[in-house]
Amino acid sequence: MTSNKNEYLKRGVDYPIKDGKRTLPGKYYHSQEIYQEEIDKIFYKSWIYACRAEEIPLIGDYKLIEIADESLILVKDKSNKIKALFNVCSHRGTQLCTEPKGSFKSKSIQCPYHAWTYGLNGKLKSAPLMKESKDFQKAKCALHQAHVHIWEGFVFINLDKNPEPFEEQMKVLIGKFSDWKMDELRIAHHIKYELNCNWKLILQNYQECYHCPGVHPFLSELTPVQSAQHDSNHGAAIGGFMDLTKKRGSMTMNGEPAAPPICDVSGDDLQRIYYYSIFPNMLLTPHPDFVMFHHITPLGPDKIINDCYWLFRPEIINDPKAQSGIKSAVDFWDLTNKQDWTVCEQMQRGTKSARFTRGYYSGREDVLFQLDLELLKALGHKAID
Ligand code: FES
Ligand SMILES: [Fe+2]
Repeated sequence: MTSNKNEYLKRGVDYPIKDGKRTLPGKYYHSQEIYQEEIDKIFYKSWIYACRAEEIPLIGDYKLIEIADESLILVKDKSNKIKALFNVCSHRGTQLCTEPKGSFKSKSIQCPYHAWTYGLNGKLKSAPLMKESKDFQKAKCALHQAHVHIWEGFVFINLDKNPEPFEEQMKVLIGKFSDWKMDELRIAHHIKYELNCNWKLILQNYQECYHCPGVHPFLSELTPVQSAQHDSNHGAAIGGFMDLTKKRGSMTMNGEPAAPPICDVSGDDLQRIYYYSIFPNMLLTPHPDFVMFHHITPLGPDKIINDCYWLFRPEIINDPKAQSGIKSAVDFWDLTNKQDWTVCEQMQRGTKSARFTRGYYSGREDVLFQLDLELLKALGHKAID
């Protein structure tokens, strides 16, 4: 994708990469120490994607979100608000909940150890025999909570006690895709991929199409590599678009649309596929007729889970005649995803070699350099060695 070089140079002045557009050293993909820093300074401090609001539709419904050492219960409370409760009993720290999703039928959350019971809002409701304890203060024993922000049906959480406002971190996104009415879309399909690579390799892979002619010959027919452009090239939401070769086509196994255009999508957007990396753990791909997104969960420096979802209008999901279109979109991206995962895993293994020091980015990978700068800034790393 092309980019504004002056902007990078200007922004690069204060950063530690002074020797041109070189890649990060291999240790940034392998070191346990750097990985832990990324968890502490990025995943525990930024707004991160958690789940779709539709996954917890009713009061009492919940989904567990695991991020490194933290586990959060995303639950719909009695006022129909989504709360993100730390999955840690305030009595002696036991995890309250182990099933990845479900519903608290009693509209309360009970610890399995000594039966302390919390409301869906996290407040402690009862604690057996604790009246006997003089020091016990019930009001001080609510579950800890993370901050929650819902954008276009996507639930984001922030574990920091005083986070930057969501709108600040994600300024570029606000209103950008409102024509898709993404809060009304529903999950038509989900594939969970377990990959042996660093989380950053997936973000990098997604933001350049230098690899497309060799790795994705079919994708390159549907969207020519030269059409790639960035319309946001710094900050937490970086992305751009590619043009479809076929008028009113889409990214499917036969290049035909999987469904009619979504809601108010019109004009140039009928011919574009957008690719947005929402740093650090989400990739968003709005098509004219559906939306695909990835949710990346790091499990270590060389391991991730990548949950890929396809969103369609509910009436399309419920239409028997539309199923072949949905399948065609899923099959196309499953094939393309696996092509990407193969090279990302190979890069993970190659960059472990002592002989890999630092590579040179091509002009089509300028944004990757920018992503590296954002990472180093977040980590507070002042020098690259
Ligand atoms: S640790 Fe939860 S009630 Fe004792
Ligand atoms: Fe790719």
